[in-house]
Amino acid sequence: MNTLQEKYADRIETTLAKYPDKRSAVMALLYIAQEEYGWVSPEGIQDVAEVCDMDPTQVKSIAGFYTMYSERPKGRFWLQVCTDLPCALKGAEKFHHDLKEYLGVDEGGTSEDGMFTVEHVMCLAACDKAPLLQCNFHNYEHLDMEKMKVLLDQWRAEVNAQVNKS
Ligand code: FES
Repeated sequence: MNTLQEKYADRIETTLAKYPDKRSAVMALLYIAQEEYGWVSPEGIQDVAEVCDMDPTQVKSIAGFYTMYSERPKGRFWLQVCTDLPCALKGAEKFHHDLKEYLGVDEGGTSEDGMFTVEHVMCLAACDKAPLLQCNFHNYEHLDMEKMKVLLDQWRAEVNAQVNKS
């Protein structure tokens, strides 16, 4: 039994039940692997391949095709700031710059504590709610740095609480 099967047995079972066969669940399972490893790591690829009864190279080629899967290590929180034109007109570029500066990272970089990776992305389909970002695929809208600092503290606290529990 691999790491994903051990830690996410219920989720894997629920996911597999939604698809006609194991192979069809590969993309949904890649999300779980990405959540566990922080990116679609070789271990994650192997775990998913085992669950789906697929060759790891097939799983890797699927992960490599779609932009929502990261093929390099990320922080625990993947902060994707939309800096596309409509959002840029509402201050998204400055927000993106200030966020990177606050966390001490360059574009695509991860904070020293391994918590946060910041990237800019194209339209997230919420243009009227800028500045906004997606954190692990959830949107956070109408942001400014004050609200952002509260969120960052909250996410850090959640992780610390999990660590202290285990
Ligand atoms: S341009 Fe930023 S969400 Fe559409």
